Amino acid sequence: MALSDCGYPMAALLIIVFFAMATRGFCVGVNWGTMTTHQLPPEKVVKMLKENGFRKLKLFDADEWIMSALMGTDIEVMVAIPNNMLEEMSNNPTAADSWVDENVTNYLYSGGVNIKLSMHVFKVFAFLPSRKYVAVGNEPFLKAYNGSYLHTTLPALKNIQASLYNAGLGSKVKVTVPFNADIYYSPDSNPVPSAGDFRPDLRDLTIEIIQFLYSCNAPFTVNIYPFLSLYYGNDNFPFEFAFFDGIINKPLRDGNSLYTNVFDANFDTLLWALDKAGYPDMEVLVGEVGWPTDGDKNANIQNAKRFNQGLLKHILSGNGTPKRKAILDIYLFSLIDENAKSVAPGTFERHWGIFEFDGKPKYELDLTGEEQNKGLVAVEGVKYMEKQWCVMDPDATESQYLADSIDYACSMADCTALGYGSSCSNLSVQGNASYAFNMYYQVHNQRDWDCDFSGLAILTDEDPSEKGCQFPVMISHASSLIIHGGLSDMLQKAVGVCIYFAYVFVIAHGV
Ligand SMILES: *[C@@H]1O[C@H](CO)[C@@H](O)[C@H](O)[C@H]1NC(C)=O
Ligand SMILES: *[C@@H]1O[C@H](CO)[C@@H](O)[C@H](O)[C@H]1NC(C)=O
Ligand SMILES: *[C@@H]1O[C@H](CO)[C@@H](O)[C@H](O)[C@H]1NC(C)=O
Repeated sequence: MALSDCGYPMAALLIIVFFAMATRGFCVGVNWGTMTTHQLPPEKVVKMLKENGFRKLKLFDADEWIMSALMGTDIEVMVAIPNNMLEEMSNNPTAADSWVDENVTNYLYSGGVNIKLSMHVFKVFAFLPSRKYVAVGNEPFLKAYNGSYLHTTLPALKNIQASLYNAGLGSKVKVTVPFNADIYYSPDSNPVPSAGDFRPDLRDLTIEIIQFLYSCNAPFTVNIYPFLSLYYGNDNFPFEFAFFDGIINKPLRDGNSLYTNVFDANFDTLLWALDKAGYPDMEVLVGEVGWPTDGDKNANIQNAKRFNQGLLKHILSGNGTPKRKAILDIYLFSLIDENAKSVAPGTFERHWGIFEFDGKPKYELDLTGEEQNKGLVAVEGVKYMEKQWCVMDPDATESQYLADSIDYACSMADCTALGYGSSCSNLSVQGNASYAFNMYYQVHNQRDWDCDFSGLAILTDEDPSEKGCQFPVMISHASSLIIHGGLSDMLQKAVGVCIYFAYVFVIAHGV
């Protein structure tokens, strides 16, 4: 494929930047992961997204049910290819063609508002291409994958790009790869952003990918997690530096720049690494950024709200980072809690949602970044199962079976709220057992025979929740999306179709 088929005229690019700036307050996207045992009806979630003013959505696959619910909305959607499909995409161009056909072309031409809106755009700004993204893989170079995807990511990326081109979308739909932030670093001897570079073991390969993306005018995507800096840095990491409103006595000085938060420092470390590789003007998206609310001593609602609200205010102010003065393009992580995610990275993994499993907002968040303490709108019309809980029988004596029963329940359901520093960590032994039994019972749709545990458990219609520790009743009419494949693989492939409806907003408001 000729490289020129990848390029935008520079003038168009500048105009895109201009209009993106003009739509301040509407640039924030959100990730919607679906590794849950009980999925909320997508059409209800989509309605909630619209009511809250979310304009951009990033998915981790291209689930038909969700995609159908998005038809007819003006939400721009980034769909995804999980990592476990990278190999096939890398060595089978026909598979890449089919993927693009079924999961991109299909939705662009079947009459959704996406298409109507982009035609609307074309009418007004006939010279502007509408922009859409396809993200290939998800953090494929994460150390935990032991290099499994090192050799398939770039070939898969090229094949998907070629398929898009063959489908006539080559100049409109762009590929990207969401990377984990540990592919770049600053040396311990000089821990400042300007010393940033790509990790030596991945440097050549990463730069090859960047070169390809750049030739297509496609963005580099990175996931940035100050929470993890705190988590893995233990108590050595300066807590206030993780937030945007901290009192920082000693900002990090880097030449003439002063850094008062780790997000900016991390982002600029990437920009310096790109500089050194010869790509100082590379477009960068932040594919995931957020803060969990449970499962760790620093994971709570107060910190999550502080981080996310501070982030939105910071991002949407347009001040940018010391190295890039612009409104950054970010996707919050994440929309809704996922009770079936792997807890390998930590027990906080299941608690990243801005919304609870049942679509209730956990805290107020003003998406316009103006900190008006505006409440978020909940998912409406959610149906629950009976107000019924499974708890440890108060008359039961602690038996030899108790510990085993708890372990069993927790191996089949989510008990991450019981851990050290978590919301239910102060329960008694009986409380612990009740919590575990109830989670098991709810996740199994309240079947009578799932509340027994060797006779240790009984049903109750009295809510056993204690201060700060919720004993949930599960949502009903749930359907498990887990059947799509291995839990841990579900989130691993990302192909995004991102349409920049920013222009549409501009037109609609007559700017
Ligand atoms: C389209 O995406 C879905 C959901 O991720 C996936 O299951 C399916 O295999 C994809 N289609 C093709 C032809 O690859
Ligand atoms: C990576 O290697 C470790 C240790 O050898 C192993 O436990 C883990 O399952 C491997 N992970 C993957 C994704 O292959
Ligand atoms: C409750 O369970 C958690 C997690 O298994 C454990 O760490 C804690 O010690 C238990 N508490 C009591 C009082 O047994």
